[in-house]
Amino acid sequence: MTQDILNHDTVALDGENNALVIIDQTKLPGAVEFLSLTKQTDIHRAISLLQVRGAPAIGVAAAIGAYLAALEIDSDDYGVFYSRFKAAKEYLASSRPTAVNLFWALDRMERVVSGNENSTVPEIKELLRREAVKIRDEDVSACRAIGEYGLSLIKDGDGILTHCNAGALATVKYGTALAPIHLGRERGYNFKVFADETRPLLQGARLTACELVADGVDTTVICDSMASRVMKNGWVQAVFVGGDRIAANGDVCNKIGTSGVAIIARHYGIPFYVCAPTSTIDMSVPGGEGIAIEEREGREVTEMWYAERMAPEGASVYNPAFDVTDSELVSAIVTERGIVLPPFEENLHRLFENIKLCAII
Ligand code: MRU
Repeated sequence: MTQDILNHDTVALDGENNALVIIDQTKLPGAVEFLSLTKQTDIHRAISLLQVRGAPAIGVAAAIGAYLAALEIDSDDYGVFYSRFKAAKEYLASSRPTAVNLFWALDRMERVVSGNENSTVPEIKELLRREAVKIRDEDVSACRAIGEYGLSLIKDGDGILTHCNAGALATVKYGTALAPIHLGRERGYNFKVFADETRPLLQGARLTACELVADGVDTTVICDSMASRVMKNGWVQAVFVGGDRIAANGDVCNKIGTSGVAIIARHYGIPFYVCAPTSTIDMSVPGGEGIAIEEREGREVTEMWYAERMAPEGASVYNPAFDVTDSELVSAIVTERGIVLPPFEENLHRLFENIKLCAII
């Protein structure tokens, strides 16, 4: 029953069986199936094939994957252990290129190894387990905080448009862009959500609709090309999306189609909010042009959802998985540390420099 999905973490460590447990998102909404993965090749494949997807979720999955890789290393020599751990880390990092949370989580795991040269290998393995669990726990609390801040931007009854899935299924639980909606639901708010279907992999129609309907939210699936229509109709009071990598200047890389939604929202004077944990902000990248955009196979566009191929053989397909929304189109970036307003270049620096932040910068 898809009703069940909100009762389970999207990504979890099964400590008894030393396995990464995920909800297989390629099977939704038809079936709720769990995968228990122990092999590195299977974890890599699960991330590449989007069985687990969404920037924060793949970060947590990779952290657990790195811990499981460490358990398999049978040498107690620190140097040998570190070099094998690094190779495993690089292998997991090659599963997808765009969402920075993947690299952020793996770097955190590596720092556990590099920072504990004087510990024994079994001690380091235990520290890696704790770090993976911490990354998981932090994701849950960050999403909850993002939900609270996001909820302060909308009111009961509002129409909200979202793109792709930045919900519970893209994180351990709650989500980023959908966290305000889930939290509002807990408090008895009634939002009307428009979920862009999100071509070509349909994360909006399959996943966002699935988790919002499971939560009892009034949900309408629209084709991506209909966003302008519903905004012009006056049905949308705010747009909420997630992010895969946010550059230091506030450019937001997110699912392909996001930038078009932002342009339309600006045209109709509708606020465009990006909800993302600080782990999605990559201060080493000055602007969106520095972000590697994943390109995926053409069959996702021409064949995947059709009984018969729907475009002629011989036509080329361009299938970028993400695009960059220029920071000028972003009304605010909602993080677990507060709501960051423009100018982003200045305020994102303050977000990282100021340890103590006020709710709204
Ligand atoms: O290709 P996907 O499904 O992993 O892309 C996901 C997105 O673009 C999400 O909007 C983003 O990761 C934010 S998830 C909280």
